[in-house]
Amino acid sequence: MTRIPWWRDAVVYEVYVRSFADADGNGEGDLQGIRSRLGHLRDLGVDALWLTPFYTSPLADGGYDVADYRDVDPRFGTLDDFDALVSDAHDHGLRMIVDIVPNHSSDRHRWFREALAAPPGSPARSRYIFRSGKPGERPGEEDPPNDWPSAFGGPAWTRLDDGEWYLHLYAPEQPDLNWRNPEVRHEFEDILRFWLDRGVDGFRIDVAAGLFKDESFRDLHGQDRRMLNGPMYSRPEVHDVYRRWRQILDEYDDRMAIGEVWTDGPQDLALYLRPDELHQVFQFDLQLAPWSAMAFREVIDAALKAVAPMGAAPTWVLSSHDSVRHVTRYEQPGGLPGIGHGRAKAALLLLLALPGSAYLYQGEELGLPEVTDLPDEARQDPIFKRTNGRTAGRDSCRVPLPWSGPAEPYGFSPDGVRPWLPMPRGWASVTAEAQASDPSSMLNWYREALALRRRLKDGLPDELEWIDSPDTALFFRRGPLVCALNCGENPVRLPAGIPLLTSTPLYGDLLPGNTAAWLTAP
Ligand code: NOJ
Repeated sequence: MTRIPWWRDAVVYEVYVRSFADADGNGEGDLQGIRSRLGHLRDLGVDALWLTPFYTSPLADGGYDVADYRDVDPRFGTLDDFDALVSDAHDHGLRMIVDIVPNHSSDRHRWFREALAAPPGSPARSRYIFRSGKPGERPGEEDPPNDWPSAFGGPAWTRLDDGEWYLHLYAPEQPDLNWRNPEVRHEFEDILRFWLDRGVDGFRIDVAAGLFKDESFRDLHGQDRRMLNGPMYSRPEVHDVYRRWRQILDEYDDRMAIGEVWTDGPQDLALYLRPDELHQVFQFDLQLAPWSAMAFREVIDAALKAVAPMGAAPTWVLSSHDSVRHVTRYEQPGGLPGIGHGRAKAALLLLLALPGSAYLYQGEELGLPEVTDLPDEARQDPIFKRTNGRTAGRDSCRVPLPWSGPAEPYGFSPDGVRPWLPMPRGWASVTAEAQASDPSSMLNWYREALALRRRLKDGLPDELEWIDSPDTALFFRRGPLVCALNCGENPVRLPAGIPLLTSTPLYGDLLPGNTAAWLTAP
């Protein structure tokens, strides 16, 4: 029997490098730290790691502002550390996906520094998107070239002293590259090869839909700022880039790419999955859905329908370094405290029973909640700064992982070191070490569910069949496996089958509220 490609049904674990494990004691996670914790990931039972950017960077956006795409930032380690990490990960049976950030570079990138030093109209400026402003309302004033907003707040344009403006869909420290310039394309093709030759198994492509902007640079006139099918995203030219990238990946064995693609509809999404383009795109629908069986069912149907015409496999995600952790999302205002935890246990069975691959975010295996009470001075997300604190930003889901011990730094850093974001009091009971010895912990739940999925997965067909269920629940079958999730508060009767795993104990043949079960099909 030919085995399907590894990525089609892989469970991928997102490592937010800065917050995973700090080996060198500077308060920030690093590559050696990841290396030292590979045993945790192997024992957890995931198939691959996705590392967020560890490249040379001033960290204006946590590393999504790359100053040198072919080197490791000294605070995260060296290229030798990277090579050692890839080799050890492979020895642990783990694949390695790295982030690539093609939409923008750092303002400290050599190219942008050259652009600043060069005059308007020069070849150095043509690697980025420079434009002249528009006359402002009052004499002597100037407005940006158009009304595009930055995703992080404020306008998407910054004016230089010589009068030209440059585009940044994110922070001003992240100037957008000009993908209409062949030099930019060639540079990224070379960067892909650089990391492929070092043994990476795949790439996660940041802002994958953004590379080309409509040449008209037309105003949005107050329309939805995200405008996913507007002039800033998913222009047809972007697909030529991914066709070329696919050719490069195909020169190697078994390598893959997953795009961070936000679109307004499934048709646009599917275009990225044509057989000569990307292997996968993130499908964020489950993450965006409320705790509701009906909502889950709808997004699952839509996600499957979106990828089916391309024969691609879907991807599922509940949390990431950009979103509110799902334990917290699933809390119920005014409801029982801790309900988010039970729902997260149940959601894992849903995620892992679906066809395709699942992307987990570090710390979800410990059931970590958002850390919402970070002091303002500690917050580093550019969203917080650029909105003058009106939007808290994403630091609350990026607090370093607690590994062991009674107090900060909980084994994340060597004792006595202060982690880059403060860690809460009271995390002694959620450390990986404490949970490992507690059979009822979230960590052991993740291990059990992942181990069972691994045992079952080769026998599971891609197709999913819905089984009738009460409105508050959803039941489906994939060949020999039945998954039942009850999002309501009251118990419902289980579908037929022999229970294999349940997120809370069953009452006879009743599935309690906020609970999921896997059963062998009758
Ligand atoms: C998406 C990344 O996941 C996010 O963290 C980053 O801020 C933006 N892209 C910009 O690179």
